[in-house]
Amino acid sequence: MGSVILGTGAYLPDKVLTNHDLENMVDTNDEWIRSRTGIETRHIGGPGDYTYAMAAKAGQKAIKMAGLRAEDIDIIIVATVSSHMLMPSCACFVQAELGACKAFAYDLNAACSGFVFALDIAEKYVLANTETKVLVIGAEALSSRVDWRDRNTCILFGDGAGAVVMGAVDEPDRGVIASRLYSDGKLWELLHMHTAESLNPDLKVAGWEGCHLVMEGKEVFKYAVKAMEDTVRELFDITGVNTDDLTLLIPHQANVRILNKLVERLDIPRKKIVINAPRYGNTSAASIPIALDEANRTGRLRKGDLVALCSFGGGFTWGASLLKW
Ligand code: ACO
Repeated sequence: MGSVILGTGAYLPDKVLTNHDLENMVDTNDEWIRSRTGIETRHIGGPGDYTYAMAAKAGQKAIKMAGLRAEDIDIIIVATVSSHMLMPSCACFVQAELGACKAFAYDLNAACSGFVFALDIAEKYVLANTETKVLVIGAEALSSRVDWRDRNTCILFGDGAGAVVMGAVDEPDRGVIASRLYSDGKLWELLHMHTAESLNPDLKVAGWEGCHLVMEGKEVFKYAVKAMEDTVRELFDITGVNTDDLTLLIPHQANVRILNKLVERLDIPRKKIVINAPRYGNTSAASIPIALDEANRTGRLRKGDLVALCSFGGGFTWGASLLKW
């Protein structure tokens, strides 16, 4: 049995924020943003675009493509760091929104790597019981968690959601071939986001700066490129696959400069890498499933193709998966 992606879906909010719009909000300009990040526009949630609502819309499309109904889904995992509530989980809201009455649901926090981590768990559920159908979603409304006065960060991020349905097929060579996941919690300060300040004075966090995202951009850049390169190379080593065999590399869309460095270091033909960061910015855990859905719906993926996913995010967390489509 192979644990394969049966359907994909994505949702982007209607509202588009351009670099020129940002010029009116912080001391920045289109030329700086394009040259340092490659980002031109990002989608920003409007009324009602809560993380769970975007997640449910992406999930609905993936379920439809898989030829299933919401009631057929057994498990919902939502990778996110920007749910509108700490409790209940975003996944429980998605379960209710979709009417996925049979499914149990929970969130997973591995920041921008969340989707790759969640896919790894979904594969294990499916292999343990081949009847199981898992809806895996990456969804973020980071516009609700960035400091819109901080030009170092607010230019980078966008909102959106992407989803896949994973299930078993009787073709053992298809599906997830290998995954490698890593974390290094010692480096948390380089990229982090506090929750609300503690109501228990004994548990106040030193240096609490508010509930927004904080980042050391240059350090994140260096670690992100190296971690993604090393993990993809490791997958190549353990599977014997190389860049010639690979159909597509779908990396986390941190920004175009990071992806250009990755292309250069892996020496991979540019046409084999999916890059949509110029249009969507960095949508954290949503970026890989959004890119995967675009590649799928535009015919860039065919049965038997080899696809690598790789990610890096706060934690630090990073990982990669190799799939036979
Ligand atoms: N507009 C104009 N100037 C700016 C802006 C802006 N939006 N932001 C920063 N600057 C200024 C800085 O203040 C600095 O000015 P100074 O020299 O007077 O101090 C100057 O531009 C250069 O800043 P640097 O930080 O050196 O710029 P750098 O070339 O490193 O680019 C960037 C910054 C784009 C953030 C880069 O470090 C980067 O890509 N880092 C990775 C960050 C990332 O992708 N994070 C996403 C989350 S993690 C993930 O998804 C993997």
